[in-house]
Order: sequence, then structure tokens, then C-alpha cells
Amino acid sequence: MNVSARAEGGMIGRPTPRIDGRLKVTGAARYPSDVILEDTAYAFLVMSTIARGRIKEFDLTEAQAVDGVLDILTYENTKGKVRKSRYFMRGGYAASSVVPLESPKIWHDGQIVAMVVAETYEAAREAAYKVRVESSAREAAPGFDERRPQPRQTPHIFAGSEPQVGDAETAFQDSDVQIDAYYTTPTQHHNAIELYTTTCVWSGDQLTVHEPSQYVHGLKNGLAKQLGIKPEKVRAVSPFIGGAFGAKAALTSRTALVAIAAKRLNRPVKLVATRQQGFTVSTYRAETQHHIKLGADRSGRLMSLSHEGWEVSSRSDDYKVAGTETTALLYACPNVFTRVNIVHADRSTPGFMRSPAEVPYVFALESAMDELAAALSMDPVELRRINDTRVSPIDQKPFSSRSLRTCYDRAAEAFGWSKRNPVPGSMQDGEWLVGWGCATACYPTNVAPAEARVTLAPNGTARVQTAGHDLGTGAYTAIALTAAEFLGVSLESINVELGDSTLPPAPVAGGSNATASICNAVAQACEDIRDRLARAAVQSGGALRGADATSIRLSRGALVSADGRSEELKESLSRLGFGPIEGFSKYVPEVASLPIRIMGHTLLSRGLPVMTIGTSAGDHVQYAFGAEFVEVRVHERTREIRVPRLVGAFAAGRIVSPTTARSQLLGALIWGVASALHEETEIDERVTRYVNKDLADYMIPVNADIRDVEVILVPEEDHKVNALGIKGLGELGNVGTNAAIANAVYHATGRRIRDLPIRIEDLL
Ligand code: MOS
Repeated sequence: MNVSARAEGGMIGRPTPRIDGRLKVTGAARYPSDVILEDTAYAFLVMSTIARGRIKEFDLTEAQAVDGVLDILTYENTKGKVRKSRYFMRGGYAASSVVPLESPKIWHDGQIVAMVVAETYEAAREAAYKVRVESSAREAAPGFDERRPQPRQTPHIFAGSEPQVGDAETAFQDSDVQIDAYYTTPTQHHNAIELYTTTCVWSGDQLTVHEPSQYVHGLKNGLAKQLGIKPEKVRAVSPFIGGAFGAKAALTSRTALVAIAAKRLNRPVKLVATRQQGFTVSTYRAETQHHIKLGADRSGRLMSLSHEGWEVSSRSDDYKVAGTETTALLYACPNVFTRVNIVHADRSTPGFMRSPAEVPYVFALESAMDELAAALSMDPVELRRINDTRVSPIDQKPFSSRSLRTCYDRAAEAFGWSKRNPVPGSMQDGEWLVGWGCATACYPTNVAPAEARVTLAPNGTARVQTAGHDLGTGAYTAIALTAAEFLGVSLESINVELGDSTLPPAPVAGGSNATASICNAVAQACEDIRDRLARAAVQSGGALRGADATSIRLSRGALVSADGRSEELKESLSRLGFGPIEGFSKYVPEVASLPIRIMGHTLLSRGLPVMTIGTSAGDHVQYAFGAEFVEVRVHERTREIRVPRLVGAFAAGRIVSPTTARSQLLGALIWGVASALHEETEIDERVTRYVNKDLADYMIPVNADIRDVEVILVPEEDHKVNALGIKGLGELGNVGTNAAIANAVYHATGRRIRDLPIRIEDLL
């Protein structure tokens, strides 16, 4: 069914507070970590303290003697119980291809080597500290061998993520102006406030898992595979998530162990991984290195762009984000070369972290663009403007829509960019060196198949059910607004249920696909209802007899025809039988029937691609864009760095829920400050171990670090991306912010910092 007809509700695009806000601020929202069931036993993890080697022996004597200890899982008694669930980059659901407690082999520091279960959390923790593990360690590789990358260190595994066109090297040599520079980004961890917790309870052969998740269907299917049971025997529940950012998308090792412990004890088991353990229990953003070469003519037109990236992955897996798929098509350029290399280290497998590919790769390109502007003595905004493009330079496919220039215009005006003196160090204010910088934000428009069920009752209330997720993004609100629009009822009449695998399947809440995918599904389900009511009404002897069924709209609790006739919803419903009417939809993005790759893979679920990625959406490419402007102040003596002002203008198609969209973008800009100045997971290279594993030492901005943040939503219509024209923006706003800040630091000080995060010591 087609939902291109816009319903008349005026709800989509209406600013409204998040509908789950009251539940959250009053504490009534029940997060998976809040779940405590009767007779629960508590689990505590024992982690490897070596990064590579083998366990030789366990001594559990002391641990078992702790009062209240019920069970201790090690590979010796758990081996073979957990089956392999395929690694998610290979079409499965698991965060790593290492099977939990499979063998004495140690792949990384902080690997789960045992799990203690006891009557209380305290007893489990005490016993866990008393588990003695004797192991033999081999020398481990912490990450990149060199500060500067080496040529391809491993054969690359995936095809399709290294876009190229023309002859970049020759064009570079022939260019009037050349930039040739290396950039790096650090290891980062998501550090969501809700920890990695899992509660499992069996009822006969039926397992229920309460775990914060951005993909309950993935959790259910992957866990069923690991346990060797049918997926319908597993229910995953996660109605709220206290932050996820990509780290709660794939199935981690802990879940199956908790399920096994609960089965063995025949009682509920709850695990809370500590914040420190969380650094290796789930995924993270690994460090990256970049070599960028830009060649331009004297007018600033790009002639050559080359971007080679290096990424760290684990020994066991070939994770990579391969952001050159984006940087290769950001600007017009006749000659493009890209390559991505994986360097294997004795670390846990990295994974998605908000804007996985774009945060590191666009940092490198947008820093280099600023260097090029400086070399050309050209305004950096003007450089973006003259290199803007309507088509991908790689294959000439058009962008479905691209409002980058408008974003620059709007943000530059709001920021007051025209008052900038381009000379570095020229804008001093008292003791502070003032710098203004800018960069492009972009994110592919991804859409996935999704299902939704909508039930409309005679009193005009409706229930919307889909196994999507609200990570704090505003999904509940966007979905409710969509249903209210298409059912012609008030927002208060809509009840949305999410985050339960018993609901109709929905995709991972990742890749910023959720609003586009789910709202299209919900709209279709509402249209299903409208269509059936309308067809019955026009054939009846009622007020709408003989009207054109396709013209009938649902509005304010009534069916209304184009010629002005109407009938109460109650009456229309009673014609189809007593009680509520149910609409159902399976939304399949139009482009989903094409062979779609995600990072070089074609991922299929029931014959359909798991997600349509914006870089390869059929006959076009689809992206959301933004422009970000920042002011930094660097103290002339202490070199303290402040960011008093951030302005971002963003165009992301139709905005369903402006209030929560704006909130997403505000948070994203602030995270961009973290990316530029604060966040880095430090690693002790002697032992390949993270050292700042808590929120005291893992730096993020606090309120005192942030002053003025302005978000401008640039109107944009795009009829190609999907029926509702939604692009998604969860990951858009923190792309490019790090580069804008680095560029502003250059403008303030004349110092070009190419390695993140930028800290005081870099500017001394
Ligand atoms: Mo997002 S990193 O795709 O969950």
C-alpha cells in the first residue's frame, strides 16, 4: 500500500514534548536494568587479566567457600553449552565470533573467563574476586605498530568499500595546490548511563531476557542460536534503554551465560557488569589513522582526493567502519582513490559507535579541507561551496536531495561568520585567543524493513505495536505523531508499545534508520485501517454511501470524504463488527529488493536486506547533510580550550518530531565537543589494557563546558528516500564537529592539530 498521500492530521512535524518524558522523570519508566524478579540470584563476571594466552588452571576453592555462592561457570563446565552465533558483520547477531566460555584461549584483556552466581550481588562479587586463574601469557599487540600507518598490514577482506575513480595520484602530482597529511582518532567507549545488565528467567522451556537492547529481535534470534533452541522460545524485553549509541546492538558474550546459569539454578539470574567491565563486555570505537591527499587548482576546485584509512580490529574478527564510502562522495572531484586497512590486535572486537564511519573519517577529510582553504587563502565555506556536487563523483548517481549549501548559508548567517578575520590568531579577546571554524556534517539515509500493528478502538484511542526501540531518541514520540496524523486522532489517544520481541519485528535501532523505517510501517498500518473502513463505508447505506473511498480521510474521530460528508468512527467500526479494528503492515523499502551491501556484505533476513544503506540505494545515493560552526577560545598562557558557541544547521528530509529531533542534534553537537577535546580510552601498551575505565577518568564534557548551542532545522523535501520523506538524524549532528573544533583551534592559534583529542598539552 502506498502512503504517499499526506494525511491531514498536521501531527507530523508538530513540536511536542516527548510522550514518555513523564514516565522517565518520575522514575515510572522501567528500564531492563530495573527489573528484579522474585527469588533472583545474582551474577558477577570474572575477567581475564592477560590480553593473549591460555588459562592453565582455575582454583575455585576460596570462591566456592564464600557464603551464598551457588554456581561458578567456567569453560571447564560450560564448554559446548554455547553454540556459535554468527558474527553480525557476517550476517549473524553476535558482537564477536568468539564463543563465550568455549575454551581456555584468551583473546583480549577483560574477556569473560568465569561467572559467579550467588544469593546476593555482594556474595557474587566477593567470590568473583576470589576466583584464582592461572594463565600463560604471550606477548600481545595493543593496536597500531607505529604512530604513522604502514602500508596495508593485512589483506583486506571486504569488497565494495574502497570507492575509486580516475587517476588520483597523477592528478595530485599535477595539482597547483596540494595537501598531504595524516590524522588520527582515538579509542572511545560509549559509556551509556545504563550499564550492561542482563536478567534471565525460564518458565519451562521458555526464556525471557530483560536486557537493554537496541535490537530485541537480534537478541532473541542470536541467543536462540547460541542456546540451540527455537527463536520463539526466547523473549527479549527492553521497553526503555538508558543510552546505547551502538554498543547495545549486537549480542555480547554475557547473555548466554546468564541464560545458562538461570537454567542450571532454575531461578532468575541477574547480571550487572560494572562500568569497568563494560569496557570489554561490549563493543567500542577503535582508533583510526588516515592519510589524506588533496589536490586543487588555483580556484580551489578539487582535482584529486585520496583517503586511506587504517582501523584496529580484534584477532578474531574483521570489523571495520570503512568511512571512505562517505568521504569519497562528499565533494565533486574527478579523481578519487580510497583504501581501508585492518590492523589486527589483541583486543575485543570493536563495533558501532554513534556515526561509526563518519565521525573518524569525516574528521580527517574536513580537517584537510580546512588546510586546503588555508593554503588557497580561501574562505573555508567558499571552498565547500565551489566543490559542492549534485552527484556522486564515483558513479555519477544523483543525491536524492542535498541541501548542504543551504545548511552552510543558514548556519553561517546565524553564527555571524562574515565577521571572521581569516588570519589565524587575529581575533584575540583579552587573554583569550578566539578561533572560528566550520565543517560539513553528513550521514547516509538508511532504511530497513519493519512491521507494525495498529489497533484503533471505537472511542478513537489507538495502540501502536512494533519491536522498535527508543534509545532516548524520541522514537515513542515520532511514532505516536505518525499514528495520530494518519488516524486523525489526538496525540494523547495513541499508546505506543516498543522494545519487546513478541511485537512485530523491527530493525536494529542503528544507522539512524528507526524513524524512517518504523514511521513508514506505522503509516502503512494506519492506511490499512483507513482503507478498510472507507471501503465498507462507501458500500453501506450510511452517510458516505457512494463516495470515493480513496478520498476518505480519518479526522477527529470521523471518516470524512472529499465532498464534505462524514460519519462517526464508531459507526464505521461497528459495520465491520464489534470492537477495535487492527491494521498491519510489512514495510519494505522500495530499494530493498536490490542487492544491498553493508560494509561490503549483503545481509539478508528472510530474503530481504537487513538495511538499505544510503551509499548504495539503487539509482541514487541518499544522505542527510548539515553545516557546523564553532567558536573556540584558547587561553593565551594556560592554553585552556573552551567552546562557548556551537551552531549547526541540518537538513534531514521531513522532520517528524521537531522537539526530539532538535534534542538529538543538541546532544550530538555536545558529543562532537567530546570527540574533539575530551574522549579517549587510554591503553597501557605494556599489557594491552584500558586504564581509564570509569567516568572519573574517561573525559566527557560537563555542563560547565557547554554554553550556547544552536540547532537550525532546515526544511527539506525528499520523495525518493521513502514514502514519508524521512532521512533520520540521530547520527548526523556529531559528524564533523570534531573537525570544526580542530579548524577553529587552528584559526585561534595557528596550530594545526591532526590527532584527537586536542588537549592543553598539544597547544603548549
Ligand atoms: Mo548506531 S552506532 O548505528 O547504534
